[in-house]
Amino acid sequence: MAPLIFLLTITLLTTPAISSVGSFVYGGCSQIKYTPGCPYESNVNSLLTSLVNSATLTVYNNFTIKSPTSQDTLYGLFQCQGDLSNVDCASCVARAVSQLGTLCPDSSGGALQLDGCFVKYDNTTFLGVEDKTEVLKKCGPLIAYDSDGLNRRDGVLDYLGTSDGSYKPFRVGGSGDVSAVAQCVQDLSASECQDCLSEVVGRLKTYCGAAASGDLYLAKCYVRFSKAGAHSYGGNDLKVKTQKGESHNPAVDDDDDDDDDEEEKTLAILVGLIAAVALLIVFLTFLKKRLWKR
Ligand SMILES: *[C@@H]1O[C@H](CO)[C@@H](O)[C@H](O)[C@H]1NC(C)=O
Ligand SMILES: *[C@@H]1O[C@H](CO)[C@@H](O)[C@H](O)[C@H]1NC(C)=O
Repeated sequence: MAPLIFLLTITLLTTPAISSVGSFVYGGCSQIKYTPGCPYESNVNSLLTSLVNSATLTVYNNFTIKSPTSQDTLYGLFQCQGDLSNVDCASCVARAVSQLGTLCPDSSGGALQLDGCFVKYDNTTFLGVEDKTEVLKKCGPLIAYDSDGLNRRDGVLDYLGTSDGSYKPFRVGGSGDVSAVAQCVQDLSASECQDCLSEVVGRLKTYCGAAASGDLYLAKCYVRFSKAGAHSYGGNDLKVKTQKGESHNPAVDDDDDDDDDEEEKTLAILVGLIAAVALLIVFLTFLKKRLWKR
């Protein structure tokens, strides 16, 4: 009995620390629409289903659905941030696919980036094609870095933008209170990924000079950094969600989410504590009864 209660309490108390995947980052749709009910539609559906299924096993995969008419051939991929578990990756991709359906109804192509995963499909080949189009940049509030702090920040970014010779599509770095994360879509080769990331790092340092945090998404890679106390993106602190309301309005920036996150966490901790206390009381009552009987 005791170990069970202990286990349950621990689970309840640690749940809030396991953050959940999925707030909206950006999305876009091809202008070209297909006719509902046409074979292309079922190809899109089976492609998206394949992506969702595959995401339970791996952080990246691509699919091509061939069609007799070449213009209907469909390409698709998903990419989870390298530190997501299979469960988080799968739920993130499932969520992205469902939001794509809402965002891009009957579109011949679409792309969606959530916090933690990216999904794209189209009938033009983009697989294995490097693409440094800027999709989203976001800098946090300016803060008073001392020169040491700024050097540290730049050092972390440079580290992420530098190759150690191996293929590293996912990178994390940190120094002091600065943490950063980088991710390539893994259809890029090692050298393309490297090229993309060093480009992002260069631009990010320029764009978000003395900002407390910064995110820069190119079409095939991104880098995000933050100083503790502002946002926290790096490694285990990845901000991800599963439970919250479905689709965010793509037109609206998601900055207000962090307050919600804090509230959610506080609430979850509170619920955990109450449950723990309740269990403890039950347990003590149980013990007391047993002792009484003797
Ligand atoms: C993609 O599909 C649309 C709609 O069927 C078609 O008009 C377009 O030409 C296709 N593009 C390519 C590159 O095949
Ligand atoms: C696409 O997936 C196939 C099979 O998993 C793999 O062999 C190929 O390298 C992938 N292509 C790209 C561009 O990632």
